[in-house]
Amino acid sequence: MCSIIGYLGDISATKILVSGLKRMEYRGYDSVGVATFADSQIRVKKGVGKVEQVNTKSNLHTLPGNIGIGHTRWATHGGVNEANAHPHLSSPGEIAIVHNGIIDNYKELKEILQTRKYFFKSETDSEIIANLLQYHFDATQDVKRSMIKTVNELKGDYSFVAVFSDGTLAAARFHEPLIVGVGKNGYFISSDVLGFIEHTDEAIYPDNGEIVIINFDGIELFDFTGSPVMHQVTKISKEFADAYKGDYAHFTLKEIWEQPLSILKAGENTRQAIESFADTVRVAKQLYITGSGTSYNAALVAKHLFLKYGKKKIEAIISSEARFYPDYFDNQSILIALSQSGESADVIEAVKIAKNNGADIFSIVNTMTSSLTQVSSISVGLNCGPEIGVAATKSFTSQLSVIYKIADLVCENQVGFDIQKTSSTMSKVLESSSKIQKISQVLKHASDIYIIGRGIHYPIALEAALKLKELTYIHAEGLPGGELKHGPLALMDSNSFVIVINPNDSTYTDTLTSAREIKARGAKVIGISDIVSDVYDHWIEIPTINESAYPFVEIVPIQLLAYYAALENQTDPDYPRNLAKSVTVK
Ligand code: F6R
Repeated sequence: MCSIIGYLGDISATKILVSGLKRMEYRGYDSVGVATFADSQIRVKKGVGKVEQVNTKSNLHTLPGNIGIGHTRWATHGGVNEANAHPHLSSPGEIAIVHNGIIDNYKELKEILQTRKYFFKSETDSEIIANLLQYHFDATQDVKRSMIKTVNELKGDYSFVAVFSDGTLAAARFHEPLIVGVGKNGYFISSDVLGFIEHTDEAIYPDNGEIVIINFDGIELFDFTGSPVMHQVTKISKEFADAYKGDYAHFTLKEIWEQPLSILKAGENTRQAIESFADTVRVAKQLYITGSGTSYNAALVAKHLFLKYGKKKIEAIISSEARFYPDYFDNQSILIALSQSGESADVIEAVKIAKNNGADIFSIVNTMTSSLTQVSSISVGLNCGPEIGVAATKSFTSQLSVIYKIADLVCENQVGFDIQKTSSTMSKVLESSSKIQKISQVLKHASDIYIIGRGIHYPIALEAALKLKELTYIHAEGLPGGELKHGPLALMDSNSFVIVINPNDSTYTDTLTSAREIKARGAKVIGISDIVSDVYDHWIEIPTINESAYPFVEIVPIQLLAYYAALENQTDPDYPRNLAKSVTVK
């Protein structure tokens, strides 16, 4: 949720920290801060807002020194204000920390430390780490020993980086991401390779329960008992260098346009995994599929696809609900987990529950170094490169692409997934973006938007509603067309906007009937279809394609509609308010 970064090397730390934080802002963007060490002193600057705003106002880049740490926050404990922004200093000001995650036992630890005369300035759980380190450092005068003692007292999930008053950087990882960049100009510690990809493509991936200590003598890694651990330096995939907007106004727009290509690349590096995935799924007794948000919507598409084309039943479970139904899983079950980040706490929890009950875990994931891949027997990579826009776009269609590839193998080519044709059809839809931009203007003053679709198009209606909510802040609701008469029709009047997903397939006639019922109540109808109709006030034409591939083609205009409506409403499409890309809290 938050992003953390640390640097020790030959160049100005704030230069590295500020640009790294900008790239990781997708992880949280309520407030920002940096701390550097120079002339035996730790200095901190922080403020509320995004990196650019805080840097302009508070001149973060003016802090001196070649050693430092930085943070962007997505608030969990305590409001969005300067006191709660990271870095947090220990009460004597000799140690500064940045933290990602949640410390569950911070209240107990805080009470103990307060009695020992360590003081707190924020409402956060994170500040406890600074004072606990200070307490153990005061007792031991040793960075390594104070780190070991601290991590053994903390309960929760976390990664943090600390800078000590002798200029040592120390970091720990426990169920939150932490990566070390090894460059010519120094060492980097970061939540994501995007924090340092500009400077080096070589990295070390510490495991859970490990500590990293860096100073000008070099780097050392230990486990939480203090035993040394060794890791190879790994080359980072070039895909990650792709995290630039280029000529696009926003990452979201760029990522929407990447889709004709990214669906082709989905699963490309893991073909063998796709085959073993399909072989096992074909004979599996009990199949479950899980995900959160957009990934859950992709899971619902999978459910429809396997049932329709392979008569294979898959139970779809929203990840955050799994804990209430642990008895779903046993040693006959396979749980397929979908996640762009591979770090969503809800998904990881669902997987843990299933695993504890004996289930086998398969995953479809973009970040192949993530926690999810580590707990899966088979992982297939989306291979779509970094998705920076907080609202998922290309990762959704890449998830569909992998699912369709697997489904075609399991269902003996019944899905008929022609990936090349699907890709070129998506490109055609993108060509009509200026028409879609014009239509988006009618949504500017909408207070409610409904999206209807039947069969496999119902999950697309849900995904459409999610995109519209996130990007435009307009209330949006996805509905199966047939359900209108069971309640939602009461909401339709001349102020309502309804997007009707109505491709020329077996759902066409019924969905058109639903559109007429809506129209009769005075609502404005936007039709997404390959067939024009007088029912539509606005028609977004999609090319005709084989029946199973329509979801790929119909989501693109909806993403564009949501993006352009966000611009009309002057919201930031890349960074919707109150959200973060990688939701690592439950
Ligand atoms: C929606 C969105 C979120 C994510 C959800 C799961 O646009 O981005 O709903 O889909 O937080 O994230 P991952 O796929 O990383 O597990």
